[in-house]
Amino acid sequence: MRSTDINDAIRTPAPATQPPRLAVAPMLDWTDRHCRYFHRAISRGALLYTEMVTTGALMHGDVPRHLDFSAEEHPVALQLGGSDPAELAQCARLAQRWGYDEVNLNCGCPSPRVQRGAFGACLMAEPGLVRDCVAAMRDAIGGALPVTVKHRIGIDHQDSYGFVRDFVGTVAAGGCDTFIVHARSAWLDGLSPKQNRDIPPLRPEFVLQLKRDFPLLRFVLNGGIRSNAEIAQWLPQVDGVMVGRAAYQTPWMMAEWDARFLGIDAAPQREAVEARMLDYIAGWQRRGLHPQAIVRHVLNLWKGEPGARLWRHVLGDAALLSSLPVPELFERARAARLSAPHEVGDQPPAASACA
Ligand SMILES: Cc1cc2nc3c(=O)[nH]c(=O)nc-3n(C[C@H](O)[C@H](O)[C@H](O)COP(=O)(O)O)c2cc1C
Repeated sequence: MRSTDINDAIRTPAPATQPPRLAVAPMLDWTDRHCRYFHRAISRGALLYTEMVTTGALMHGDVPRHLDFSAEEHPVALQLGGSDPAELAQCARLAQRWGYDEVNLNCGCPSPRVQRGAFGACLMAEPGLVRDCVAAMRDAIGGALPVTVKHRIGIDHQDSYGFVRDFVGTVAAGGCDTFIVHARSAWLDGLSPKQNRDIPPLRPEFVLQLKRDFPLLRFVLNGGIRSNAEIAQWLPQVDGVMVGRAAYQTPWMMAEWDARFLGIDAAPQREAVEARMLDYIAGWQRRGLHPQAIVRHVLNLWKGEPGARLWRHVLGDAALLSSLPVPELFERARAARLSAPHEVGDQPPAASACA
């Protein structure tokens, strides 16, 4: 299909005036509800993604455990893994019922387990099926939520620009108008998922070309973006940027996002975020959750600041976590941080690294 035909075929063209989006990537075992609550305390405007939830887990598993989230987390997108249009349609309905702001289909995960389930990145070889999945999801929710797709630029040796262009063109005809592109191929044979996030080369120029070829679609660039300086460089050229590992490992980079990129008047303070997380953790502990389940996401809050390592050391201490009341634990961590005003190795990286 030529790109002009495709643009004609799109059911709901994206208005040119939509604001840019900045998103934290879906990350299995990382972006659970507690992590998202923490990220939301830092940025009000970032779009937060769930971990991938498979259709099987929703059809046969504990739906509230997978889908429940706090009202504070909005805007939040549910990422689904699956390849059966009818099942995905049911899960999209669940996403709507549970109040998600977007539903996203994973066409980028290269893990062997996911390949055995015939979804994730291997779906890029079946654009017609992805189109049908998107159409089924859209029809199920009557356009109430956007249905988006996250994908790679290729799989294995199918890595020419034409491959990803044809994929996007076909899937757009199912009613997807926003594509989140992890701008490297997935090598399905021989690389671990972790290697697949680093070894195949990044080709952001493919995403810029997609944007030129499909002016009515929205493209969000993902992959290897580690600083706000890089976000500032890319954002004018695409419709949005998605950050994964850097957002998790250096969460305070998000403190600039609202004011600098999203037009939201906000100036978060680390102490306030810390206090908010203390309350949140104490609240969950009263409901029977071990603080470790939340604390693990927060450990990088002070990264780059003097005393960060001591703060992290106290909060990460399993024995203290199990024995101290949460307010006391945080008080100890704070005291440790303040006791080390110039700890070697905790100085901020170069100012530009997170600028
Ligand atoms: C721990 C971890 C888990 C991930 N899980 C998912 C996932 O569930 N769904 C998905 O689409 N991508 C997943 N990814 C890939 C990220 O969403 C993202 O595409 C990738 O890390 C590249 O972005 P980055 O360089 O900004 O980290 C995962 C990445 C990491 C590090």
